[in-house]
Amino acid sequence: MQKKRWQNMKIIPVIETERLVLRHWQQEDLEYFAAMNTDPHVMEFFPAVKNFDESLREYQAIEKHFENHGYGWWAVSESNNSKFIGFIGLRYIDFPAAFTPAVEIAWRLMYEYWGKGYATEGAIASLEYGFEIQRLPEIISFTSAQNIRSRKVMERIGMQASPKDDFTHPKLQESHPLSKHVFYRINNDEWKKCQEYL
Ligand SMILES: CC(C)(COP(=O)(O)OP(=O)(O)OC[C@H]1O[C@@H](n2cnc3c(N)ncnc32)[C@H](O)[C@@H]1OP(=O)(O)O)[C@@H](O)C(=O)NCCC(=O)NCCS
Repeated sequence: MQKKRWQNMKIIPVIETERLVLRHWQQEDLEYFAAMNTDPHVMEFFPAVKNFDESLREYQAIEKHFENHGYGWWAVSESNNSKFIGFIGLRYIDFPAAFTPAVEIAWRLMYEYWGKGYATEGAIASLEYGFEIQRLPEIISFTSAQNIRSRKVMERIGMQASPKDDFTHPKLQESHPLSKHVFYRINNDEWKKCQEYL
């Protein structure tokens, strides 16, 4: 018997925060996503900017992740309109590394939306979803050691640096200026304690 097409589809949750909506991706977002991925400000701590085909593949991988896991890197809009401003969310990772399998929290916003607290606001909501709804035991994050803005988001949402887990990015030469990566983590108990001040 033919499988029903919707059999494996999961309902993708929409998360509303004070100023943002974390939502399902729309086809129109791709154009903005691809433009964001060519911006040297946004891509400063990535080995290179992405061309359209690379952004398309990343977009398709994000969609696939939602289908497989029911959560992922949500497209983000401000509450008063539906324009794409970036993504924030959770990703299951199982590539070979000392810290995998794990669920990672990540963010990437268009440059004009930096400096408003949006990444922190969306990340807190993503952590809440991961711990309260998905019942994850732990959420991790990592970035190039030089990516101070991203590290500050990790710290603001209650994640702790875990220097023993810092690593050299396997796809970069050790001498590459972005090779050293810092590792942060937060577990369910730490998250509950953070509720008093977040
Ligand atoms: C990482 C990234 C999302 C951080 O953006 P950000 O704007 O620094 O972080 P937030 O959205 O949390 O905003 C915090 C800033 O907004 C300010 N702010 C202004 N209004 C605010 C408000 N109402 N509430 C909270 N913060 C506010 C804060 O003071 C803070 O500024 P500061 O860093 O100068 O102290 C952004 O730099 C980015 O997209 N980088 C490219 C992608 C990337 O590197 N991703 C990580 C790869 S692993």
